[in-house]
Amino acid sequence: MKKLRIGILISGGGSNMHAIVKACHADDFPVEVAVVISNRPDAKGVQIAKDEGIASVVVDHKLYADRPAFEAVLNAELAKHDVEMVCNAGFMRILTEEFINNWLGKQINIHPALLPSYKGLHCHERALADGVKITGCTVHYVCLEVDAGAIIAQAAVPVLDDDDAVSLAARVLKAEHQLYPHALRMVADGRAVKVDDIVRIKSNVEASDTLHVPKL
Ligand code: GAR
Repeated sequence: MKKLRIGILISGGGSNMHAIVKACHADDFPVEVAVVISNRPDAKGVQIAKDEGIASVVVDHKLYADRPAFEAVLNAELAKHDVEMVCNAGFMRILTEEFINNWLGKQINIHPALLPSYKGLHCHERALADGVKITGCTVHYVCLEVDAGAIIAQAAVPVLDDDDAVSLAARVLKAEHQLYPHALRMVADGRAVKVDDIVRIKSNVEASDTLHVPKL
């Protein structure tokens, strides 16, 4: 099977990256991780990638004069590893229009909220302040507007009465670890197809029951 070669961009813990790497251990998973790139030298994910035997590179944004100079090195690393699709996994740098356009339709991201709600930072704090009962996570294509690209897959997560931002983030992160490999598989095997600004899913799965929070 020809596998989709991905490059994963990280800035921190790298737990989503690790979930993808673990999914790739299965022979029938249609994706392979060509390289993990961190913009932070101290990111925990760099060591995880090393331990997993995955090529890992640090491209420290602080060492470059501006974003284009930083991204030129990112692009060189992605090209060097024959990357076909870029997967942002907790990558916390704003990318230039040029970089985004260059990877348009070939770059995806995971966001810890049910987009289009709670774009940007501090999603969990804002969800708690609003008193929403369901939040979740979204895998989507990257486009010029932050957190606004075509949605590939989402997972819903309950918000519990005694949650704080830390407990809620942990529950959402667990869902992210399931969702990201699932979304990638659908993209790689052609089940998720981007048509203009919408991702169409070819699936025979019936809609499951409504999720009520709190349970009825
Ligand atoms: C994840 O919750 C991810 O959704 C979020 O950062 C965390 C990274 O965790 N990303 C964003 O907020 C992007 N705007 P990880 O490094 O352990 O995968």
